[in-house]
Amino acid sequence: MRQPLPPASCNVYTPQLLADALVAALGDTATARWLEPCVGKGALLEAISRIGTEKNRIVGLDLAPLPEPSDRFGRVKRSTEFLSWAARTTSRFDRIIANPPYISLRVLPTQVRTAALLHRTPAGHPVPAGSNCWYAFLCASLRLLRPGGSIGFVLPASFEYARYALRLREELPELFSECRVHRCEVPIFDAVDEGAVVLLCRGFGDESTTITRGQHENLQGLVASLKSRRKSHHVTKATDSPSLLDHVMLRDVMNVGIGAVTGDSDYFLLSESQRLRHRLPKSVLRSVVSRARHLQCPTITRDIWADYLDSDERVWLFRPSDSDLDNPQVRAYLELEPEQGGCRRNAFKVRNRTPWWRTRLPARPHGFLSGMTQHGPLVCFNEKPLLTATNTLYTVRFADSIPKENRCAWALMLLTTSARKQIEAAQRKYALGLKKLEPGDLSSLQLPVPKLTVPRKAYLQAVKAVTDGDWVKASEIADAYIAKLE
Ligand SMILES: C[S@@+](CC[C@H](N)C(=O)[O-])C[C@H]1O[C@@H](n2cnc3c(N)ncnc32)[C@H](O)[C@@H]1O
Repeated sequence: MRQPLPPASCNVYTPQLLADALVAALGDTATARWLEPCVGKGALLEAISRIGTEKNRIVGLDLAPLPEPSDRFGRVKRSTEFLSWAARTTSRFDRIIANPPYISLRVLPTQVRTAALLHRTPAGHPVPAGSNCWYAFLCASLRLLRPGGSIGFVLPASFEYARYALRLREELPELFSECRVHRCEVPIFDAVDEGAVVLLCRGFGDESTTITRGQHENLQGLVASLKSRRKSHHVTKATDSPSLLDHVMLRDVMNVGIGAVTGDSDYFLLSESQRLRHRLPKSVLRSVVSRARHLQCPTITRDIWADYLDSDERVWLFRPSDSDLDNPQVRAYLELEPEQGGCRRNAFKVRNRTPWWRTRLPARPHGFLSGMTQHGPLVCFNEKPLLTATNTLYTVRFADSIPKENRCAWALMLLTTSARKQIEAAQRKYALGLKKLEPGDLSSLQLPVPKLTVPRKAYLQAVKAVTDGDWVKASEIADAYIAKLE
């Protein structure tokens, strides 16, 4: 069958520094069989070869048909689509190393998308249609790993928080004796705006230990940590917190995800004065919250949002539907050149979606959160129909098992002394003293179980205490509503 060509946005190559460190961290044995499922120009292949691994122990694949000079370092099959190959091969490997394509499954050629959807996590959860090619590559690779084997994957930072990847994140620590996530705070690749993680898992099928996490300011820090093969001073934090009695994981109660990613907020986010200047009808815009300061309240209502609008905050998201394209003002706004305030269409997130102007929205949020820990995290309940958030903020959806009347009780548990201690330990420190939690950090918090009925008034008082800066009072209120379990 004729193979589709790989999308051009996949052509992002691993720097040699990282390739060598990742190969060294995986280590070799005299008989280990290696797999590189998407060799590209061969950065990882060359690194495997540099440690002396013979060609006949390395299998490489790539969808791209043209051979590369580095193909001589392994048994490389070109014009071979990995996801379909993985579903039918009987070969198994001791080391799988990859920098897989980062691209939404929805925009892949049908043949590749269909193959991706055939894969499952080791526990049997299917690859979701709304997920990403890297996720399918990871699931497919786990299927090909021999007992005792190891994987090293270079992944986008969304590995840590993407909703679709939750199942695998939960399963991974149980599957390997050692599982490490190394997060690099700055992009590793010129063409990718997002930060990256390196996932290193060893001892497939051996008795599991906990997942550990290291955060690195730059690629050099990450590489040094990979090379040291132990927690070095570059590892600022490990999230392997002990299980707390009478607590539940936050992710079992609520799902925290990032808000809508516009890819060019200067263009897509507008204030009311900007909307009027461009004469855009309200019907082509969605109401959003976009700043942590929009969430300094227990609930966001139509009136509160209208206040932001009156203050000329950027709380409109330009998101026309197909039927709006006939509107001359919409057309004019779409056709603006970047120098005139038009969209920077070559921005990573913009160029990778179809149509480029349709920002994907998160599922209808029950509430919003800011990851900044200075004034929170605090759930601000959503009481305005069709309101959503942009990706400076997180969206919250409570589990179906939590009745609506109990949501506020669970939100209050984020303010308890126990939760605050965990937040203090888990927060990441960014430039200018900014302290923040990523959705994955929040999801891993453990919350005390609340009393079933928490009066709304208590939540309002606790939030007021937080906004007044009185954390002691906020925690006292919250602690008083922890259930006394037998
Ligand atoms: C991000 S590049 C990585 C290249 C190389 N592994 C490196 O680290 O430098 C991804 C590669 O995946 C290939 N590719 C994309 N989709 C593929 C698929 N479904 N099966 C096999 N290769 C694929 C592309 O041709 C590209 O060479």
